[in-house]
Amino acid sequence: MRRNKKYKWYKIADTESELNFPSNNLLQIEVAGKNICIAKGKELYACTAKCPHAGGIIADGFIDQSDVVTCPLHRYKFCLQNGRNISGEGYYLKTYPVQITSDGVFIGIEETGLLSWLK
Ligand code: FES
Repeated sequence: MRRNKKYKWYKIADTESELNFPSNNLLQIEVAGKNICIAKGKELYACTAKCPHAGGIIADGFIDQSDVVTCPLHRYKFCLQNGRNISGEGYYLKTYPVQITSDGVFIGIEETGLLSWLK
């Protein structure tokens, strides 16, 4: 869990199996007005839907056995655990925490706004 950030948790499914992943194990959904890519690797990950390089649709890319996602446009590679651009171009893919509990599958979105630090 990331420290010093406050998250609001959004339920995206009752169970992981309810998420209907296509064959590339990448699924784009909307959560709290944001387009988010859910990736199914060794575990579930969430990241922003668009590549930070030039807006490629991450859900149209592919994920490898090391939980690295490759953008379909220019093939830059990002670690889904931390968003680091492991192919060396210096970009960062925003990631979101995922929690799976007996109540469902949740994505954490940082609380923003003037008073969010008070909560
Ligand atoms: S848009 Fe993703 S690598 Fe260029």
